[in-house]
Amino acid sequence: MSNQISRSFQNIFLTFAAICSGVCLPALAFSQSNFGIEFKDKDKIVKILTLSDLATEVTAVSLKIFEIHEKKDQIYKAYPVRALFDKTFGKKWLKAEEIVFVSTDGYQASIPVTKFLSHDAYFAFAHDDDSPFTMTNILQNNEVVQLGPLYLIWDNMKSKALLKEGASDMPYQVKSIQLTTFATRFPNLSPPAKASAEVQRGFLYFRKYCMACHMINGEGGGKAPELNYPTSVVEYIKPEYLTRWIENPSSIRHNSLMPGLAQEIPDRTKITKEIIAYLKAMSTTKRSPKHQDMR
Ligand code: HEC
Repeated sequence: MSNQISRSFQNIFLTFAAICSGVCLPALAFSQSNFGIEFKDKDKIVKILTLSDLATEVTAVSLKIFEIHEKKDQIYKAYPVRALFDKTFGKKWLKAEEIVFVSTDGYQASIPVTKFLSHDAYFAFAHDDDSPFTMTNILQNNEVVQLGPLYLIWDNMKSKALLKEGASDMPYQVKSIQLTTFATRFPNLSPPAKASAEVQRGFLYFRKYCMACHMINGEGGGKAPELNYPTSVVEYIKPEYLTRWIENPSSIRHNSLMPGLAQEIPDRTKITKEIIAYLKAMSTTKRSPKHQDMR
Protein backbone atom coordinates (compact mmCIF):
# COMPACT_ATOMS: atom_id res chain seq x y z
CA MET A 1 0.00 0.00 0.00
CA SER A 2 2.66 2.52 0.98
CA ASN A 3 4.58 1.52 -2.13
CA GLN A 4 1.51 2.34 -4.19
CA ILE A 5 1.27 5.75 -2.57
CA SER A 6 4.90 6.50 -3.18
CA ARG A 7 4.56 5.39 -6.82
CA SER A 8 1.60 7.65 -7.49
CA PHE A 9 3.52 10.43 -5.79
CA GLN A 10 6.39 9.63 -8.14
CA ASN A 11 4.04 9.86 -11.10
CA ILE A 12 2.74 13.25 -10.02
CA PHE A 13 6.28 14.37 -9.55
CA LEU A 14 7.38 13.05 -12.97
CA THR A 15 4.46 14.79 -14.67
CA PHE A 16 5.36 17.99 -12.87
CA ALA A 17 9.01 17.57 -13.86
CA ALA A 18 8.00 17.01 -17.49
CA ILE A 19 5.84 20.15 -17.61
CA CYS A 20 8.38 22.06 -15.63
CA SER A 21 11.58 21.04 -17.40
CA GLY A 22 11.33 23.62 -20.19
CA VAL A 23 10.42 26.53 -17.97
CA CYS A 24 11.69 25.96 -14.47
CA LEU A 25 15.20 24.59 -14.99
CA PRO A 26 16.94 27.96 -15.31
CA ALA A 27 15.30 28.97 -12.00
CA LEU A 28 16.45 25.73 -10.40
CA ALA A 29 19.96 26.19 -11.73
CA PHE A 30 20.03 29.67 -10.26
CA SER A 31 18.96 28.56 -6.80
CA GLN A 32 21.63 25.87 -6.81
CA SER A 33 24.56 28.27 -6.89
CA ASN A 34 23.98 28.81 -3.15
CA PHE A 35 23.39 25.14 -2.46
CA GLY A 36 25.63 23.69 0.27
CA ILE A 37 27.33 20.45 -0.70
CA GLU A 38 27.93 18.16 2.27
CA PHE A 39 31.22 16.33 2.83
CA LYS A 40 30.83 13.56 5.43
CA ASP A 41 33.13 11.05 7.10
CA LYS A 42 30.77 8.17 8.06
CA ASP A 43 27.89 10.12 9.64
CA LYS A 44 29.91 13.14 10.71
CA ILE A 45 29.77 16.30 8.59
CA VAL A 46 33.32 17.46 7.84
CA LYS A 47 32.45 20.47 5.67
CA ILE A 48 29.58 22.13 3.84
CA LEU A 49 30.69 24.08 0.78
CA THR A 50 28.76 26.04 -1.84
CA LEU A 51 29.85 26.07 -5.47
CA SER A 52 31.54 29.45 -4.94
CA ASP A 53 33.43 28.01 -1.94
CA LEU A 54 34.67 25.15 -4.15
CA ALA A 55 36.16 27.66 -6.59
CA THR A 56 38.44 28.92 -3.82
CA GLU A 57 39.55 25.38 -2.87
CA VAL A 58 40.65 23.97 -6.25
CA THR A 59 41.36 25.19 -9.77
CA ALA A 60 38.78 24.40 -12.44
CA VAL A 61 39.72 22.89 -15.82
CA SER A 62 37.91 22.43 -19.13
CA LEU A 63 37.53 18.72 -19.81
CA LYS A 64 36.30 17.00 -22.94
CA ILE A 65 34.72 13.58 -22.44
CA PHE A 66 32.63 11.20 -24.50
CA GLU A 67 29.24 11.89 -22.90
CA ILE A 68 27.72 8.42 -22.71
CA HIS A 69 24.28 9.74 -21.68
CA GLU A 70 24.11 11.70 -24.96
CA LYS A 71 26.40 9.55 -27.15
CA LYS A 72 28.50 12.54 -28.22
CA ASP A 73 31.55 14.56 -27.11
CA GLN A 74 30.91 17.22 -24.51
CA ILE A 75 33.13 19.78 -22.77
CA TYR A 76 32.59 20.55 -19.09
CA LYS A 77 34.04 22.99 -16.59
CA ALA A 78 35.16 20.74 -13.78
CA TYR A 79 37.22 20.26 -10.61
CA PRO A 80 39.66 17.35 -10.33
CA VAL A 81 38.19 15.01 -7.68
CA ARG A 82 41.43 13.82 -6.02
CA ALA A 83 42.60 17.42 -5.48
CA LEU A 84 39.19 18.38 -4.10
CA PHE A 85 39.11 15.39 -1.72
CA ASP A 86 42.65 16.23 -0.50
CA LYS A 87 41.39 19.74 0.33
CA THR A 88 38.11 18.74 1.94
CA PHE A 89 38.89 15.48 3.72
CA GLY A 90 42.69 15.61 3.94
CA LYS A 91 44.60 12.41 3.18
CA LYS A 92 42.20 10.27 5.23
CA TRP A 93 39.92 9.81 2.22
CA LEU A 94 42.57 7.45 0.83
CA LYS A 95 41.94 5.13 3.78
CA ALA A 96 38.17 4.89 3.24
CA GLU A 97 36.88 1.88 1.33
CA GLU A 98 33.88 3.31 -0.42
CA ILE A 99 32.57 6.77 -1.32
CA VAL A 100 28.81 7.32 -1.47
CA PHE A 101 27.43 10.10 -3.65
CA VAL A 102 23.86 11.11 -2.83
CA SER A 103 21.86 13.00 -5.45
CA THR A 104 18.91 15.34 -4.98
CA ASP A 105 16.67 12.85 -6.89
CA GLY A 106 17.42 9.93 -4.54
CA TYR A 107 20.11 8.26 -6.66
CA GLN A 108 22.98 6.88 -4.52
CA ALA A 109 26.17 5.84 -6.25
CA SER A 110 28.60 3.88 -4.09
CA ILE A 111 32.06 3.81 -5.66
CA PRO A 112 35.21 2.07 -4.34
CA VAL A 113 38.06 4.45 -3.46
CA THR A 114 40.41 2.37 -5.64
CA LYS A 115 38.59 3.54 -8.77
CA PHE A 116 39.53 7.16 -7.97
CA LEU A 117 43.17 6.13 -7.66
CA SER A 118 43.35 4.28 -10.97
CA HIS A 119 41.22 6.68 -13.08
CA ASP A 120 40.84 10.46 -13.32
CA ALA A 121 37.49 11.68 -12.02
CA TYR A 122 36.18 15.26 -12.12
CA PHE A 123 33.22 17.11 -10.69
CA ALA A 124 31.59 19.04 -13.53
CA PHE A 125 29.71 22.17 -12.43
CA ALA A 126 28.92 23.85 -15.80
CA HIS A 127 29.01 23.34 -19.54
CA ASP A 128 32.12 24.89 -21.06
CA ASP A 129 29.93 27.22 -23.17
CA ASP A 130 27.81 28.19 -20.12
CA SER A 131 24.62 26.80 -21.67
CA PRO A 132 22.07 25.58 -19.05
CA PHE A 133 23.58 22.79 -16.96
CA THR A 134 21.12 20.12 -18.12
CA MET A 135 21.22 17.04 -20.34
CA THR A 136 18.79 14.97 -22.37
CA ASN A 137 19.50 11.48 -21.06
CA ILE A 138 18.95 9.06 -23.95
CA LEU A 139 19.61 6.13 -21.59
CA GLN A 140 16.62 7.22 -19.53
CA ASN A 141 13.87 7.68 -22.06
CA ASN A 142 15.17 11.12 -23.13
CA GLU A 143 14.41 12.61 -19.76
CA VAL A 144 15.76 16.18 -19.43
CA VAL A 145 17.83 16.17 -16.26
CA GLN A 146 19.38 18.88 -14.15
CA LEU A 147 23.12 18.12 -13.65
CA GLY A 148 24.01 20.52 -10.80
CA PRO A 149 25.15 21.13 -8.22
CA LEU A 150 27.85 18.58 -9.15
CA TYR A 151 28.10 15.91 -11.83
CA LEU A 152 30.74 13.17 -11.46
CA ILE A 153 32.52 12.52 -14.76
CA TRP A 154 35.57 10.48 -15.81
CA ASP A 155 38.30 11.24 -18.31
CA ASN A 156 37.16 8.46 -20.65
CA MET A 157 39.02 9.87 -23.68
CA LYS A 158 42.17 8.33 -22.19
CA SER A 159 40.68 5.00 -21.15
CA LYS A 160 38.95 2.29 -23.18
CA ALA A 161 38.04 0.47 -19.94
CA LEU A 162 36.06 3.49 -18.73
CA LEU A 163 34.27 3.80 -22.07
CA LYS A 164 33.16 0.17 -21.84
CA GLU A 165 31.61 0.73 -18.43
CA GLY A 166 28.97 2.93 -19.98
CA ALA A 167 27.23 5.36 -17.66
CA SER A 168 27.96 3.54 -14.41
CA ASP A 169 29.50 5.62 -11.60
CA MET A 170 28.39 8.94 -13.15
CA PRO A 171 25.88 10.40 -10.69
CA TYR A 172 24.53 13.89 -11.37
CA GLN A 173 22.78 16.30 -8.96
CA VAL A 174 25.34 15.27 -6.34
CA LYS A 175 24.63 17.10 -3.06
CA SER A 176 26.35 14.91 -0.50
CA ILE A 177 29.64 12.98 -0.48
CA GLN A 178 30.34 10.44 2.24
CA LEU A 179 33.43 8.39 3.12
CA THR A 180 32.50 4.97 4.45
CA THR A 181 33.02 1.22 4.33
CA PHE A 182 30.50 -0.84 2.44
CA ALA A 183 29.63 -3.05 5.43
CA THR A 184 28.85 -0.12 7.77
CA ARG A 185 26.85 1.77 5.21
CA PHE A 186 24.88 -1.15 3.72
CA PRO A 187 24.71 -4.04 6.22
CA ASN A 188 21.32 -5.27 4.88
CA LEU A 189 22.48 -5.63 1.27
CA SER A 190 25.03 -8.39 1.70
CA PRO A 191 24.11 -11.97 0.79
CA PRO A 192 23.99 -14.78 3.39
CA ALA A 193 27.41 -15.84 4.71
CA LYS A 194 27.36 -19.24 2.97
CA ALA A 195 26.31 -17.88 -0.43
CA SER A 196 27.81 -19.47 -3.57
CA ALA A 197 30.48 -17.81 -5.72
CA GLU A 198 27.81 -17.06 -8.33
CA VAL A 199 25.70 -15.19 -5.75
CA GLN A 200 28.77 -13.27 -4.55
CA ARG A 201 29.57 -12.19 -8.10
CA GLY A 202 25.92 -11.23 -8.60
CA PHE A 203 26.16 -9.09 -5.46
CA LEU A 204 29.13 -7.18 -6.90
CA TYR A 205 27.26 -6.63 -10.17
CA PHE A 206 24.15 -5.52 -8.29
CA ARG A 207 26.31 -2.94 -6.47
CA LYS A 208 27.75 -1.75 -9.73
CA TYR A 209 24.67 -1.66 -11.94
CA CYS A 210 21.51 -1.56 -9.78
CA MET A 211 21.84 -0.26 -6.24
CA ALA A 212 22.23 3.39 -7.21
CA CYS A 213 18.48 3.38 -7.96
CA HIS A 214 17.04 0.37 -6.14
CA MET A 215 16.94 -0.71 -2.52
CA ILE A 216 17.28 -4.21 -1.06
CA ASN A 217 15.97 -4.51 2.51
CA GLY A 218 15.71 -0.71 2.64
CA GLU A 219 19.30 0.04 1.55
CA GLY A 220 20.56 1.53 -1.71
CA GLY A 221 19.16 4.30 -3.90
CA GLY A 222 15.78 5.90 -3.46
CA LYS A 223 15.02 6.51 -7.12
CA ALA A 224 13.25 3.22 -7.97
CA PRO A 225 11.21 0.55 -6.16
CA GLU A 226 12.57 -1.65 -3.38
CA LEU A 227 13.25 -5.10 -4.89
CA ASN A 228 13.25 -7.47 -1.90
CA TYR A 229 11.20 -6.39 1.11
CA PRO A 230 8.55 -7.48 2.02
CA THR A 231 8.04 -9.36 -1.28
CA SER A 232 10.96 -10.06 -3.60
CA VAL A 233 10.71 -9.48 -7.35
CA VAL A 234 11.74 -13.13 -7.82
CA GLU A 235 8.50 -14.11 -6.05
CA TYR A 236 6.12 -12.24 -8.37
CA ILE A 237 8.00 -11.73 -11.66
CA LYS A 238 8.43 -14.80 -13.89
CA PRO A 239 12.13 -15.59 -14.53
CA GLU A 240 12.06 -14.76 -18.26
CA TYR A 241 10.44 -11.39 -17.52
CA LEU A 242 12.99 -10.61 -14.83
CA THR A 243 15.74 -11.13 -17.41
CA ARG A 244 13.91 -8.73 -19.72
CA TRP A 245 13.54 -6.14 -16.95
CA ILE A 246 17.31 -6.14 -16.60
CA GLU A 247 18.30 -6.27 -20.27
CA ASN A 248 15.49 -4.40 -21.97
CA PRO A 249 13.07 -2.65 -19.58
CA SER A 250 11.14 -0.83 -22.30
CA SER A 251 10.12 -4.23 -23.74
CA ILE A 252 8.11 -4.63 -20.50
CA ARG A 253 6.97 -1.10 -19.77
CA HIS A 254 6.61 1.64 -22.34
CA ASN A 255 8.26 4.84 -21.05
CA SER A 256 10.30 2.94 -18.49
CA LEU A 257 12.83 5.23 -16.82
CA MET A 258 15.11 2.30 -16.11
CA PRO A 259 18.17 2.01 -18.37
CA GLY A 260 18.78 -1.60 -19.44
CA LEU A 261 22.16 -3.21 -18.82
CA ALA A 262 24.26 -1.74 -21.64
CA GLN A 263 24.70 -3.92 -24.77
CA GLU A 264 28.45 -3.14 -24.80
CA ILE A 265 29.09 -4.80 -21.44
CA PRO A 266 31.04 -8.00 -22.07
CA ASP A 267 29.32 -11.13 -20.65
CA ARG A 268 26.01 -9.30 -20.29
CA THR A 269 23.95 -12.54 -20.27
CA LYS A 270 26.13 -14.09 -17.58
CA ILE A 271 25.97 -10.90 -15.50
CA THR A 272 22.16 -10.87 -15.71
CA LYS A 273 22.04 -14.51 -14.54
CA GLU A 274 24.34 -13.77 -11.61
CA ILE A 275 22.34 -10.70 -10.55
CA ILE A 276 19.21 -12.87 -10.54
CA ALA A 277 21.04 -15.49 -8.45
CA TYR A 278 21.84 -12.72 -5.95
CA LEU A 279 18.20 -11.54 -5.93
CA LYS A 280 17.06 -15.14 -5.28
CA ALA A 281 19.52 -15.48 -2.39
CA MET A 282 18.25 -12.19 -0.93
CA SER A 283 14.64 -13.39 -1.16
CA THR A 284 15.58 -15.90 1.56
CA THR A 285 17.39 -13.17 3.51
CA LYS A 286 14.75 -10.57 4.27
CA ARG A 287 15.91 -8.07 6.83
CA SER A 288 13.55 -5.43 8.08
CA PRO A 289 14.57 -1.96 6.79
CA LYS A 290 15.66 0.15 9.74
CA HIS A 291 16.10 3.45 7.96
CA GLN A 292 14.05 3.78 4.80
CA ASP A 293 15.36 7.13 3.75
CA MET A 294 19.05 7.96 3.88
CA ARG A 295 18.92 11.17 1.90
C1 HEC B 1 18.74 4.73 -13.26
C2 HEC B 1 17.94 4.00 -12.30
C3 HEC B 1 17.80 2.49 -12.40
C4 HEC B 1 18.81 1.55 -12.48
C5 HEC B 1 20.31 1.77 -12.56
C6 HEC B 1 18.14 0.26 -12.46
N1 HEC B 1 16.78 0.43 -12.38
FE1 HEC B 1 15.37 -1.07 -12.19
N2 HEC B 1 13.89 0.33 -12.25
C7 HEC B 1 14.06 1.70 -12.26
C8 HEC B 1 12.77 2.36 -12.23
C9 HEC B 1 12.55 3.87 -12.23
C10 HEC B 1 11.79 1.33 -12.18
C11 HEC B 1 10.27 1.53 -12.07
C12 HEC B 1 9.52 1.24 -13.33
C13 HEC B 1 10.01 2.01 -14.54
O1 HEC B 1 10.19 3.22 -14.53
O2 HEC B 1 10.21 1.34 -15.53
C14 HEC B 1 12.53 0.05 -12.20
C15 HEC B 1 11.93 -1.20 -12.18
C16 HEC B 1 12.60 -2.40 -11.98
C17 HEC B 1 11.97 -3.70 -11.81
C18 HEC B 1 10.49 -3.98 -11.77
C19 HEC B 1 10.01 -3.85 -10.34
C20 HEC B 1 8.54 -4.07 -10.17
O3 HEC B 1 8.13 -4.48 -9.08
O4 HEC B 1 7.77 -3.81 -11.12
C21 HEC B 1 12.98 -4.61 -11.65
C22 HEC B 1 12.84 -6.11 -11.41
C23 HEC B 1 14.24 -3.89 -11.72
N3 HEC B 1 13.97 -2.55 -11.93
C24 HEC B 1 15.51 -4.47 -11.59
C25 HEC B 1 16.72 -3.79 -11.79
C26 HEC B 1 18.01 -4.44 -11.76
C27 HEC B 1 18.26 -5.90 -11.43
C28 HEC B 1 18.93 -3.46 -12.04
C29 HEC B 1 20.43 -3.62 -12.25
C30 HEC B 1 20.83 -4.48 -13.33
C31 HEC B 1 18.21 -2.20 -12.22
N4 HEC B 1 16.87 -2.45 -12.06
C32 HEC B 1 18.81 -0.96 -12.49
C33 HEC B 1 15.27 2.37 -12.28
C34 HEC B 1 16.53 1.78 -12.35
